[in-house]
Amino acid sequence: MSTRYVRWCLGAAVALVAVGGQIEETETHTPIASRWNYNEHLFPIFRDNCGSCHRDGGIAPMSLVSYRSAYPWAQSIREEVLGLRMPPWKAEDGFGDFRNGHALPAHEMDMILEWSSGGYPQGPRSQSPAAPGEPEEWPLGPPALELRMAEPFTLDWSTNEVVRYFVLPTGTTEERFVTGADVMPGAAAIVRDVAIYIDATGTARALDAEDDGPGFGEAEGRDFPATAPLALWSPGRPSVRQEDAARTLPAGADIVARVHYKKTWITEGEEFADQSRIGLYAGDESDRAVESMLLSSPERTGELTLTFSQEVETDVSALAVLPEVAIEAKDVQVVAVTPTGTRVPMLFLREPDTAWPTRYWFDTPIDLPAGSTIEVNAILHPGADFTPGRSLFGADPSAPIRLVVDYAAAGALAD
Ligand code: HEC
Repeated sequence: MSTRYVRWCLGAAVALVAVGGQIEETETHTPIASRWNYNEHLFPIFRDNCGSCHRDGGIAPMSLVSYRSAYPWAQSIREEVLGLRMPPWKAEDGFGDFRNGHALPAHEMDMILEWSSGGYPQGPRSQSPAAPGEPEEWPLGPPALELRMAEPFTLDWSTNEVVRYFVLPTGTTEERFVTGADVMPGAAAIVRDVAIYIDATGTARALDAEDDGPGFGEAEGRDFPATAPLALWSPGRPSVRQEDAARTLPAGADIVARVHYKKTWITEGEEFADQSRIGLYAGDESDRAVESMLLSSPERTGELTLTFSQEVETDVSALAVLPEVAIEAKDVQVVAVTPTGTRVPMLFLREPDTAWPTRYWFDTPIDLPAGSTIEVNAILHPGADFTPGRSLFGADPSAPIRLVVDYAAAGALAD
C-alpha cells in the first residue's frame, strides 16, 4: 500500500467522522426559522423553569439542561407547554401573587414555541452552557430539627407508583412552634411529592405497627390524615418558612411524611431505596398561630359551573391556598369579597388537575375583615369527568373541588 493511498484513506475517514458528527449535532427536519437558539436563549429558561426535575437523576424522564438530550423533545415540549401541563404550576400570574412559583412568562413561552417549531437551533458552540450542579443542601438554611426515615424504603423493580406514609418521631419534650418544613429526598429520581403532617394522636404509629415493612400504605378505612398538612413539597418548588407565623408542634408529636413515589418510563424496571430527610424550622411563642379553614364544593349537578363560598368569622390574614380539583375544569377562580364589596383576587387555576398537589403561598398575606366571604367559581368542561380520590387534607372525597385556606390572626404579618 502506498503512503499516498493510506493518507487518502485517513483523510476520507476523518472527513466522514466530521460529517457524521455534524449530522448528529445539527440534524433538523424543519428549516431553521427561530430567532432563538438553545445555548444563548433557551438554556436559561429550561434551567430555571424545568431543570429542577428535568436534569440527570431528576424526577422527569429527560434532561432539558443539555442540548443533546433536549432537542429530540422539541415537539413534545411544544405540546406540553401549549397544553399548560408543563411546567406543573397552574396558577395564572397577576391574579394573586405567590412566593413559591410562577407561570411561564408569556415571552418565554413564545420563545419556547418559536424554537421548538423553528428547527430548534443549538446556537454558537462557543456559548455551550454548563449543566447546573446538584441542588443545594437545605436551601432555607440548616433546620432546627432534622429527621430521617428510620430505615430505607425499597421500591422494587415491578412497582411503578406507590404512596407510603412514614412516621418520624420528633422526641420533643415540650411544645414547639414550626414556621416551615423542607425535604431532602433520598432517591431524587422517584420522590415526586411529599406531604408533611403533625400527628400528636398516635394514629400514624398505630397504623405503622399494623403494616409490614417501613411505614404504612393507604388502604380502605384508614383515615390518615384528617388535617391540613404542615408542608407540601415537590422538586424545585421552594419551600416556605414563615417569618412570624407558625403551627404548634405538641410535645412528643410525630411528623408523618406521606411520600408519593413514581417512576417514569426511563426508570421503570429499576429498583430504588429511599431514605428521605425532613427539616423543620423553628419559631417561638410570639408567632401567630397558623390555622386552616376548609371549603368543599357541592356535588356536581350537570351544570357547567360549580360555585360555593364560605364566610370568614374573625379578622384574618390569609397566607396560602391549597386546592384539590378532582373534576375536569377549564378554570377555577378563588376570590375574597370583603363586607364592603371589594373583590380581592386570590387564585386563578387554568386546566387544573391533581397530578402535582400545590400549596400557593401569597407573596403578601391577604388581610380579610370578619364577615368577608371566600368564593370559588369553577367552569367545567362539558361532560367533565370526576374522579373521587383521597384528599390530602381530609376533605370529603365526594366533593369535586375542595380547598384549604391557611391563615393567621389579622395584622400579625403586615406590621
Ligand atoms: C416539578 C417537576 C417538573 C418540572 C418543573 C417540569 N417538568 Fe416536565 N415532566 C415532569 C415529569 C415527572 C414528567 C413525566 C410525566 C409525568 O410523570 O407526569 C414530565 C414530562 C414532560 C414532558 C413529556 C415527556 C414525555 O415523556 O412525553 C415534556 C415535554 C416536559 N415535561 C417538558 C417540560 C418543560 C418544557 C418544563 C419547563 C418549562 C418542564 N417540563 C418542567 C416533571 C417536571
